[in-house]
Amino acid sequence: MSSSPNKLNVHALLWQDRQLSVLDQRLLPDQVHYDIYATAPEVAEAIRSMRVRGAPAIGIAAAYAVALSVQQYFVADNVEWQYKVNADIKILAASRPTAVNLFWALAVMQEKLASLQDSPVDAMINTAIEIHQQDIAANQQMGEIGADILADAQGILTHCNAGALATGGYGTALGVIRSAYHRQARTVFAGETRPWLQGARLTVWELAKDNIPATLTADSAAAMLMRSGQVDWIIVGADRIAANGDVANKIGTYSLAVLAQYHGIKVMVVAPVSTIDFTIENGGQIEIEERAASELLPASYVQEGSLVNAWNPVFDVTPAELISVIVTERGAVFNPFEQGVRKLKNEY
Ligand code: MRU
Repeated sequence: MSSSPNKLNVHALLWQDRQLSVLDQRLLPDQVHYDIYATAPEVAEAIRSMRVRGAPAIGIAAAYAVALSVQQYFVADNVEWQYKVNADIKILAASRPTAVNLFWALAVMQEKLASLQDSPVDAMINTAIEIHQQDIAANQQMGEIGADILADAQGILTHCNAGALATGGYGTALGVIRSAYHRQARTVFAGETRPWLQGARLTVWELAKDNIPATLTADSAAAMLMRSGQVDWIIVGADRIAANGDVANKIGTYSLAVLAQYHGIKVMVVAPVSTIDFTIENGGQIEIEERAASELLPASYVQEGSLVNAWNPVFDVTPAELISVIVTERGAVFNPFEQGVRKLKNEY
């Protein structure tokens, strides 16, 4: 294979000169453009508008945003700055509801802030950098664990983008695909992922940058693809996993899992332990984000008085019973999940 499996050649987020550079993913694959942010509300807007997206990347961006806020407001001997930082944390928490990594990262940053006596700025920046570095390390570990499971797999279908662009680097589902591919070539299919086209605009672009050939399919071709016998694993990331193993991920994941069961194809979910929400029993408790109808509708329908509307939930919940294995950086948990997830919780 022509490039090293651990090479990071795509960066959604870069911390440089005490500011956060965010790759504007709305412009890919046509333009690679970074915006520089110095305040938390700007970062919250970048998350809301999907300049940065993907559960772990959202969490990391929010962690850096809290560090930016402390850097902006900290004044020794003055309590006012803490109110301002807390207000920024509330703005960040309201940016997107489904990915638990956002709330996890904010909690880590808040806990760190509460433990600091004075001079918090550098400590908060270092904590955000640590969250970022740990995510990359977790992805690389998951890559190896997942690749072991895929030893005999020939054809893989992924959905949305769970790659370097959606994480600190390397990727969750795409991390496994990278590691597996670099051991041995496989056929990789990516669903285009309507309506935002993460598969078409991001996943195949990112894989090509890593010299991994990928074949794009319309989402509606999934059943036909599975019946053709070219796929033996579906591999996806997750935005939130409940204690029973139900998985919230990009809309369309549930459909793929139903189809996979019918065709006898296995489903792998790849996510760091920070994506598991141990506080919820099942996927019914996960808030599913609904985005604007305008993201789905042709522009000519988006006008006052139009009789055409759209329903645009951007995640769905795949029941645990349709998932074969959940790969985390602390090991793989096979179906049934409850005991394995409980063990992860106890070790965490
Ligand atoms: O709406 P998005 O693009 O933020 O949704 C992203 C996904 O659903 C990913 O599959 C998920 O966050 C896992 S990313 C490692």
